[in-house]
Amino acid sequence: MSRVMSVRASSNAPKVALLGASGGIGQPLGLLLKKNPNIAKLALYDLVGTPGVAADLSHIDTPAQVSAHTGPAELVSALEGADIVVIPAGVPRKPGMTRDDLFNTNAGIVRDLAEAAAKTCPKAFLAIITNPVNSTVPIACEVYKNNDITDLKRIFGVTTLDVVRAQAFVAEKKGLDVNKTTVPVIGGHAGVTIIPLLSQVKPSVKFTDEEIKALTERIQEAGTEVVKAKAGAGSATLSMALAGARFVENLLNALKGQKVVQCSYVKSDVIKGIDYFSTPIEIGQNGVEKIHGTGPLSSYEQSLVEKSVPELKASIEKGVKFIRVHD
Ligand code: NAD
Ligand code: LMR
Repeated sequence: MSRVMSVRASSNAPKVALLGASGGIGQPLGLLLKKNPNIAKLALYDLVGTPGVAADLSHIDTPAQVSAHTGPAELVSALEGADIVVIPAGVPRKPGMTRDDLFNTNAGIVRDLAEAAAKTCPKAFLAIITNPVNSTVPIACEVYKNNDITDLKRIFGVTTLDVVRAQAFVAEKKGLDVNKTTVPVIGGHAGVTIIPLLSQVKPSVKFTDEEIKALTERIQEAGTEVVKAKAGAGSATLSMALAGARFVENLLNALKGQKVVQCSYVKSDVIKGIDYFSTPIEIGQNGVEKIHGTGPLSSYEQSLVEKSVPELKASIEKGVKFIRVHD
């Protein structure tokens, strides 16, 4: 049985379902979502541990009504009525692994969770954190298509952590106010597919070629930097929780009718030859409303885009094939 722990729920605010809620990302992300006064219901789903996490979070004096859902038999109750579904369920990297090394375990997890979401809350925004994002987003889209949902505008790959890191590193390097520093990051979410656009930093700032190369490589390898530092205990969780909460906050604002612009890895025809790419996108109540494109690129950034295409193409095809051969 799913358990509901009630704390002053407000009536017209949205429900968020967090799938993978007991994990390294799930717990701090759950905390940040519980702290968000605009969320009325927070459904925590995992294979293990949700009653404890839910009991703990439910003692916080914020409006969100927390419910615990454990195991596949309680997945539908977690998803029922959800406006936003966030998926950090799945295994993280250990040192020496690529994100693609997680495919064998995580592809099936995302497939099954997306299948349940497509059937239970087909109009909900689906925010996918689980790696390899470059493949798990195409997996979810194929699952939705199999469920006769052709409008894929509500399916998002969360690449916000790349933006968060880029903003932190650029502000630190250049002595900028980090609260006012914006850096778009386009492409995908793995190694060379992560493309920070340092030519579009705001406020406008000058970099030497060496600085551009060093910052770009640090942003591309920042996930690996954390994996190495955690030495076998997983990958980024706290910074990801912040990034995930920021992404969800923007989705909540979009649901309220605001036009929100943020970078996300989505179905996109911005780059010839590949069907998914991250650029700034405009999100409204029904999902992606406008794909902004890359904006003007420096020749270095253009070369990074070209270099990313073969890897993105392979990751996308791998995800698509995973669903089509299992049909
Ligand atoms: P974790 O192992 O700490 O937690 C994962 C949780 O998922 C666990 O609680 C586990 O029980 C749960 N889980 C496993 N299978 C499940 C299923 N079928 N249904 C529901 N829950 C299930 O891992 P983590 O550190 O939280 O990382 C989770 C994922 O997020 C990894 O794939 C990691 O690579 C990815 N990640 C992505 C980004 C990004 O920027 N998009 C950043 C960091 C981590
Ligand atoms: C990250 O960028 O931190 C995540 O994708 C986790 C990882 O494996 O690096």
